[in-house]
Amino acid sequence: MFNGQLISYSGVQPSGNLTIGNYLGAIKNFSLYSEKYKCFYCVVDEHAITVRQVPAELRRRTYETLALYMACGLDPDKNTLYVQSHVHEHAELAWILNCFTMFGELSRMTQFKDKSAKHSENVNAGLFTYPTLMASDILLYQTDVVPVGIDQKQHVELCRDIAERFNQIFPDTFTIPEPIMAKSGMKIMSLADPTKKMSKSDENTNAVVYILDDKDTMIRKFKRAVTDSDTCVRFAEGKDGINNLMSIYSCFTGKTIEEIEREFDGHGYGEFKIAVGEACYDALAPVQQKFNEILADKSYLEAQMKKGAEEASWYARRTLGKVQKKLGFVKI
Ligand code: TYM
Repeated sequence: MFNGQLISYSGVQPSGNLTIGNYLGAIKNFSLYSEKYKCFYCVVDEHAITVRQVPAELRRRTYETLALYMACGLDPDKNTLYVQSHVHEHAELAWILNCFTMFGELSRMTQFKDKSAKHSENVNAGLFTYPTLMASDILLYQTDVVPVGIDQKQHVELCRDIAERFNQIFPDTFTIPEPIMAKSGMKIMSLADPTKKMSKSDENTNAVVYILDDKDTMIRKFKRAVTDSDTCVRFAEGKDGINNLMSIYSCFTGKTIEEIEREFDGHGYGEFKIAVGEACYDALAPVQQKFNEILADKSYLEAQMKKGAEEASWYARRTLGKVQKKLGFVKI
């Protein structure tokens, strides 16, 4: 809560091409809060460098992620859309929060364990303290709700613990945020291994459907999706692949699982997979078209980045100032 306004905050890393997991688990839901909340959605480029990035690609993806936010329905006049590195308070508060975060807490983060196993040649301190930067993002804006996929829930819970610890020592500093997750899209699984999360950094591009994939590519990927030896389209334990496809179809069409089971009663997996691909493309085609229009106008994007950074800075400055004062930092 900031000046009586409820706040929604979330972020996406520009660390790869965005997937339908990012869309269904997060971005699609961001616009749901625009009416009731003051919304901040950030392109978190500082988080992205915890893993090595090619600079030109990071730059390109930063523009693309911002354009995608807008193409997914986030109006820059109603939401504050900005880039993390444009608001220096994020890194400054992150340092302070590092001093209120325990080594043991950071060691228990599953994303740290996964990423340090995957990038064993580069287990840097930033990867370890990634969650305190994320806590800084959230707490700077006195956030009430954080719409995320389930993989980020643990980080938001740690953010709550850090905020509560800080508030215990320095009362009334931070709002305690609540993670909120879409019911059916909060965990979209890989098409090649439906026990694993669909991830933009997966090397197997057939396991991942990107928001910007063309229609044929989408359908081809869904056709190749790993399923089981049953032939009946129904949601059940042990049918991870089909369950995942049903969830995706449900998210894109708004149909319930029961309706989908009825629709495909007596039809095989082949037909169902094509229907999922078509529904996915039909829902994303308007997003793709808008994305291309917005991306073509770089100066418009840059103007929006600047406006977003100015708006965000105003809020960030206020919280950081309050924190510094409470800590005893001298103001000059
Ligand atoms: P990132 O960039 O990995 O993912 C962006 C959002 O997409 C969600 N997501 C998924 N949801 C469902 N199924 C999937 N397969 C899937 N893959 C990704 C993520 O849960 C996330 O909501 N640390 C964050 C970025 C971040 C942030 C923040 C988020 C930085 N600061 C402050 C919220 C608030 C991340 O790496 O997201």
